[in-house]
Order: sequence, then C-alpha cells, then structure tokens
Amino acid sequence: MNHMSVTIGTPLQSSAFKVLLLGSGELGKEVVISLQRLGVEVHAADRYDHAPAMQVAHYQYTLNMANPEELKQLIAQVKPHLIVPEIEAIATEVLVEIEESQTATIIPSAKAVNLTMNREGIRRLAAEELGLPTSAYRFADSLESFRAACDDIGYPNFVKPVMSSSGKGQSRVKSFAEVDAAWEYAQTGGRVNQGKVIVESQIDFDFEITLLTVRAKNAETGEIETQYCDPIGHRQDSGDYVESWQPQPMTAVALEEAKRISHKVTTALGGCGIFGVELFVKGDKVWFSEVSPRPHDTGLVTLASQYQSEFELHARAILGLPVNTTRHSVAASAVIYAGVDDTNLSFSGLNLALANPNTDLRLFGKPEGFKRRRMGVATARAETTDQARELAQHAADQVIVNQN
Ligand SMILES: Nc1ncnc2c1ncn2[C@@H]1O[C@H](COP(=O)(O)OP(=O)(O)O)[C@@H](O)[C@H]1O
Ligand SMILES: [Mg+2]
Repeated sequence: MNHMSVTIGTPLQSSAFKVLLLGSGELGKEVVISLQRLGVEVHAADRYDHAPAMQVAHYQYTLNMANPEELKQLIAQVKPHLIVPEIEAIATEVLVEIEESQTATIIPSAKAVNLTMNREGIRRLAAEELGLPTSAYRFADSLESFRAACDDIGYPNFVKPVMSSSGKGQSRVKSFAEVDAAWEYAQTGGRVNQGKVIVESQIDFDFEITLLTVRAKNAETGEIETQYCDPIGHRQDSGDYVESWQPQPMTAVALEEAKRISHKVTTALGGCGIFGVELFVKGDKVWFSEVSPRPHDTGLVTLASQYQSEFELHARAILGLPVNTTRHSVAASAVIYAGVDDTNLSFSGLNLALANPNTDLRLFGKPEGFKRRRMGVATARAETTDQARELAQHAADQVIVNQN
C-alpha cells in the first residue's frame, strides 16, 4: 500500500516544491543544505542581509518577521508549500491564519510555534495539561507580584522573561536582596517589551540533556511515528551552549522517562519535524525544562555522530519522508566565538583545527561578530565522550579570529 506522499519538482521552474525559512541562522543553513540536496526550492528570510542560511538558499528576503503585514506580504509573494520557522520572534498570528486557510503547512504546526515562543504557553501545557514533572514556577508581571513570586518559590531561583531565548534577560537569584535587580534586568532582555517573567525553582540536576525527538511519517502507512536520537549532554554558560556530546550516559529508567516526557509533549504540539526537548536528570528522575519545535543548537554534534544529522532528519520529516536516527559514532561539539565586536572577520589556524582526521569544522559566515556571538563550531569523533569533548575543544581553540 502506498499513501499520498510528497512530489518534489524542479527548483526555479513552475513545478518547484517551495520551502520558506523564517529565520536564517546557522541551524537553518544546515536545514537548507539538506533541502537543497533533495531538490527543494528554498526561500530564506531574516532581519539582516547575508544571514547564514540565505547564503545557500535560492532566494533571500530581509524583513521584520515580527511585523504581521510584512510577513503576510512575503508569504503571498513566495507562495511556499511549507513554512519553516527557525526563530521565535515571528508574528505567529499570521501563521495561525495561514494554517487555517490551508495555503501552506506550518512546520511543525501553528500551535507548536505559538506555544513555544512564550514560556508561559509551553510551561502550562507541559505541567498543567500534560502533568509532566517540571520545576515549581510562578508568573509575574509587576515588581510587586515578582517579589511575592520569588519569596513563594524560594532561593536560589531562575528568572526569565517569558518571551526570550539564549539566556537574554535571565538571572539566577540567590536571595531577596537580588530580586529588584533581577526584575530590572529581565525588563531589558525580553524580545518584546511585555514585562512578564517566569520564576522557576532551581532543579539540582546531575546533568542536562537534549533529547532530539522526530515526528515523521512511516514510509508504508503514512502514519506519524515518534523516534528519538541518543541523548545529547551539554554545558551551558550564561544561558548559551558552549559544548555538547552524544551519547550522554544515563540510567535505563531515566532514559525511558525522558522518552515518555518527550513523546507526550511533542505529540501535544503535533505536526512533522524534529524537536529539541530539554530535560534535567538526577539519577532515575527527569524534569521537563523546555522544547524547541526545530533543530536545537546542542544538536550540531549530530553532524559528526549520526548517519542523518538533526538537520537532515528535520528536512526529511517535514517533507513527509522516513528518517533514521541511528548514531554511528561517539562525538562532541565545541562552539567558536567571535571574541570581538566587528564585521568582516576572518578565520585562520584552520589547518591545525583540522589536523586530526576525526575533527571537522563549520564556519557560519555571519556578516557581523560580537564577543559572545557563535561564529562556528568544531566537531570531533573519538572512542569516549571525554576524548571527543577534549578533541572538539582543542580544534575550536586552534581557530583564530582576525579583524580586517
Ligand atoms: N529551573 C532551573 N533549574 C536549574 N537550572 C536551570 C533552570 N532553568 C534554567 N536553568 C539553566 O539555564 C539554562 C538556560 O535555561 P532555559 O530555560 O533553557 O533558557 P533558554 O530558553 O534561554 O535556553 C538551562 O539549560 C539550565 O542550564
Ligand atoms: Mg534552553
């Protein structure tokens, strides 16, 4: 039996199968490369020119995707089959409209994009509707209610603007004395000046993981099935990932629980594609933290560890094609930062970074660097995760960033 499946035409001709990427960062760039290999016509948008994914797409657009009118106009112009949000700062009400009118498919679903762009939406879904274990939490939208929320949750706690990512506006509050400063800081770091924050109790975890979870159609039946990559361990510094490795060893009980949680939350979000489910682990116990309905930065390690990287998995899944999450190697990734605020940077020392045959490199081609901006990543394969981490870090350290 063969179910209805995608037909891919010829790019730049009337039969083209068109994907519109909203957000064109380094993760999107790898997704575009995977789509290009399958003959998809790719349109890439972002708020600045020459963003990484634009450089490998057929068409590029620079616009404010948080502006509903600009976004609507772009979608009307491109007429994509699929719309793939790569960032969270998008006018999601437009995506809801598009999905309802069936003019394009939103990846993975308008509901998923909508709920995950706001910490309140996804937290209430996970904890209150699905009953998944999470940190204790309160929401606050004024200094008064924030002080009360902090006292309620206790110390130390984590404060995050509900509309923020990559550690922006976040702080770890150790005592009541730090509360007012944390409120001020949160007000400057949110994506839109919405004011609302979440206060979370600190989870005392042994380690944290990303469980890449793919919802993809079965080749024969067309039914959506859930598959998992091996758990990815990672280290965060100020809310930003600095290194990751795969697999992260954990107990069989904890792994089963991690899969149960991931299955529940991704099923509720729906659609096809990859999800980065962030979990905290202590012994056999697992807490849900957050989820991205798209490839995850810590998953860059899968470029070195899996037959199909998280980007290929995403490309296949969104096209309705079957996936294979098998890992072939132990590997690690280490981030390369700009270290300076400047444009037109160049990178040397690459010969040394790649001297070991088990290492590899991605330079994202970002037109502008900031001290803490991710400009590339080194990956390495080895016998053990410790060796892979050391080798990836060594490779990243060989890369010298030069100003021109
Ligand atoms: N409740 C918590 N308990 C312990 N650590 C936390 C908690 N919340 C966040 N963290 C730490 O901060 C990091 C970033 O938090 P996260 O909610 O993932 O924000 P972002 O959306 O910016 O990635 C986490 O990966 C974890 O290391
Ligand atoms: Mg996170």
